[in-house]
Amino acid sequence: MNGRRVLLVVGGGIAAYKVPELVRALRQAGCQVRCALTEAAAAFVSPLVLQSLTGQPVCRSLLSAGEEGQIGHIELADWAELVLIAPASADLLARMAGGHAGDLPTAVLLATRAPLLAAPAMNVNMWEHPATQANVALLRERGVRFAGPESGELACGWQGSGRMSEPGALAAQAALLLGTRSLAGARVLVTAGGTRERLDAVRVLANRSSGKMGFAVAAEAARRGAEVVLVAAPCALPTPAGVRRVDVESALEMREAVRAEAPGAAVVVMSAAVADFRPARPQSHKIKKEELAEDAGLHIELLRNPDILAELCAARPAAAPGAPPVPIVVGFAAESRDLLAAARRKLARKGCDLLVANDIRQPGGGFESDENAVVLLDAAGGAEELPRLPKAEVAAHLWDRVEKLREPGL
Ligand code: C5P
Repeated sequence: MNGRRVLLVVGGGIAAYKVPELVRALRQAGCQVRCALTEAAAAFVSPLVLQSLTGQPVCRSLLSAGEEGQIGHIELADWAELVLIAPASADLLARMAGGHAGDLPTAVLLATRAPLLAAPAMNVNMWEHPATQANVALLRERGVRFAGPESGELACGWQGSGRMSEPGALAAQAALLLGTRSLAGARVLVTAGGTRERLDAVRVLANRSSGKMGFAVAAEAARRGAEVVLVAAPCALPTPAGVRRVDVESALEMREAVRAEAPGAAVVVMSAAVADFRPARPQSHKIKKEELAEDAGLHIELLRNPDILAELCAARPAAAPGAPPVPIVVGFAAESRDLLAAARRKLARKGCDLLVANDIRQPGGGFESDENAVVLLDAAGGAEELPRLPKAEVAAHLWDRVEKLREPGL
């Protein structure tokens, strides 16, 4: 974790006494560490101790001109590559779930785009309370990872679940989440979201893609150190940390953006749901039903859109024997029938190196969901079926596979 930037948000709870040890574990692993404390946390652990161990001033107040002058809360949020919340008290989790930003730690937690790892610690009854469990479920849904709590004897005298995980275990989890720098120096292009094809001044033809999968793929590549360009069709998702985003609307605009950004890319991942057809004659005014005969339907002629993925693959120079293709191209296939056979045909037809296939009929998978159950098919005939996983984890598996393809001699 040499040089990696970890922000430690410390909540108010007795487990804060383990925080100095956690800082030491992270520092020993090579991290740069900064600490942000809630008011209550400062009652449990000395800011002076944390300042001495991190070698950085401790951040506590949103309203202190002096502190904001040194490093503002947004700067701190942007600085972090990982935010570790330890201990994550019941109150802090509730405020995170509610989107509060009334003090420095919560404002930073709301502003950061870095991955969040929470280490809860509290009395067992507080942990098991439906309010806390609902907050945890909501935060998990939003992508917050959790480490612990562990079971055992609690500082309050109760036995049960509520102990903060040990500093060494938390540092190891942090290392996993920070990931490797295995894509350092590589330029990566990702497409995401569902294109919109204009019908008239107010109407579009769209699809149900949320963009979540492609955004997770872009975020993971950035975490691994790649220079990432994300060509995004309309979707309401925040741009992941360290990613350059190019917004487009239609398939034709996406094709232009891909053509402009693909040169120099080592890997292109096309997860966008691109419309296969577009209205032949988009109208600049709003089509009005009054213009049509009473009870008449509206006939829309559709033209075929170019297949951006197939075009990109066809334009690639042939790879030298034993060398990986440049760029490595990954396609997606959302199928509703004969998943494997249809996906295999698609892989061959489009000429990509890897195809991520999912069955959109499965409940909870695919469109709009936070999870996905996919099969990774490669051009050599291999198929790897992954269990249903959060999209961030599917993205991590995908990049592991791509990294293998990039190794020379394969
Ligand atoms: O043919 P189908 O739409 O199922 O193929 C899906 C894959 O092809 C995705 O990777 C998608 O981004 C890409 N695609 C494309 N251009 C199109 C249609 C699909 O790049 N016009």
